[in-house]
Amino acid sequence: MSEPTSKRSATLLCHDDEAYRENRGAVVPPIYQNSLFTFPDWEAIDQAFSQPADAAIYTRGNNPTVTMVEEKLAGIAGAERARLFASGMGAISSAILSCVNQGDHIVTIRNIYGPAQNFMRQYLGPKCGITTTFIEGTAIDQFEAVIQSNTKLIYLESPASLTYELQDLAAVARLARTHGIRTVIDNTLATPLHQSPLAQGIDLEVHSASKYLGGHSDLVAGLLLGKKTDLDTISLTEQAWLGSKMAPFEAWLLLRSLRTLPARLRLHQEQAMALALFLDQHPGVRKVYYTGLPSFPQRELADRQMRGHSGLLSIELSTDDPTKVRAFVDALDLFKLGVSWGGHESLVYAPLISYLREMGQEAFRKSGIPAGLVRLSVGLEDVQDLQLELDNALKKVQ
Ligand SMILES: Cc1ncc(COP(=O)(O)O)c(C=O)c1O
Repeated sequence: MSEPTSKRSATLLCHDDEAYRENRGAVVPPIYQNSLFTFPDWEAIDQAFSQPADAAIYTRGNNPTVTMVEEKLAGIAGAERARLFASGMGAISSAILSCVNQGDHIVTIRNIYGPAQNFMRQYLGPKCGITTTFIEGTAIDQFEAVIQSNTKLIYLESPASLTYELQDLAAVARLARTHGIRTVIDNTLATPLHQSPLAQGIDLEVHSASKYLGGHSDLVAGLLLGKKTDLDTISLTEQAWLGSKMAPFEAWLLLRSLRTLPARLRLHQEQAMALALFLDQHPGVRKVYYTGLPSFPQRELADRQMRGHSGLLSIELSTDDPTKVRAFVDALDLFKLGVSWGGHESLVYAPLISYLREMGQEAFRKSGIPAGLVRLSVGLEDVQDLQLELDNALKKVQ
């Protein structure tokens, strides 16, 4: 792994020094909005073909605007190399496929992001004979207990989706190494600013850049970080052949977003903490799930492996009555109803909506997800307005 950059993250994200010098002092670099790069002669194109992971030949492989953002992201994550994808799922599926072959076994966490889970259960299983064991993942012996001779990948998401359980990254990385198993983590929630999995020994780090990295709900993007040899191989195989490279305009938008990432994250966290503390005392709420709360069950581990928290929290309403959960969600206005998170706007989502549709009432009851669970993505609005709105909506469920 390369040494962390000598500049601190906020400074690195704020300036595009090289592009500034090359582009007449333009404070925002222009976009290479082209699919193709041509060459003056045979020798020049031959030279480019000899470095396929680095050369800009065709934008499905490399594009200078995309490369510029990749270098910036590798710098803040302490990674040798970064590659940007058309979506978070593009990065996740390529990372997983790079680690497993037909007949292999994966160990992962029960609460990973739904489509990543479906990729393992509904695609890798039936099409490739790759089996997956889902565990809670809060203790290292749970991993030890399910490792098989054909286990080739441990796939983590810490904090995990919806209820934010953590895995001990350094301990899992050590265990995996002793068994020759690759490790991948979805680090979307913490972002590279608040958690550094590669420094703890994890092999590959994936992100949905559609969340905090993008931050304005106007782009869909994925990021993969790791060693140069791994990333170069993936970029020339899974990424190139499945065609999931990020487009230059998306990269340019992402570059715009990254300039304010440290400031946005600070405010998301501050506001989420204020609301988590308020909701924790509210009679309309049975339980608050937020990694920043002093009462968070894995407080010591969170303090050891994370540098900060996020704007994402979940609450369990004091009722399991679906009509009241619906009334609570419908009473919100500033919190828009939608599936994503990490943007400037506050969002609400109740897993009950999709789970009831996909699983049916009986299966949902057995899944262990509380019927009254509601996820809140705390945005950048005035926090007092957000608190007042939550208080009024909670009165409808009491
Ligand atoms: C934790 C997590 N990982 C990955 C993804 C997938 O990212 P994308 O929507 O950019 O494909 C999401 C999207 O919601 C997510 O929440």
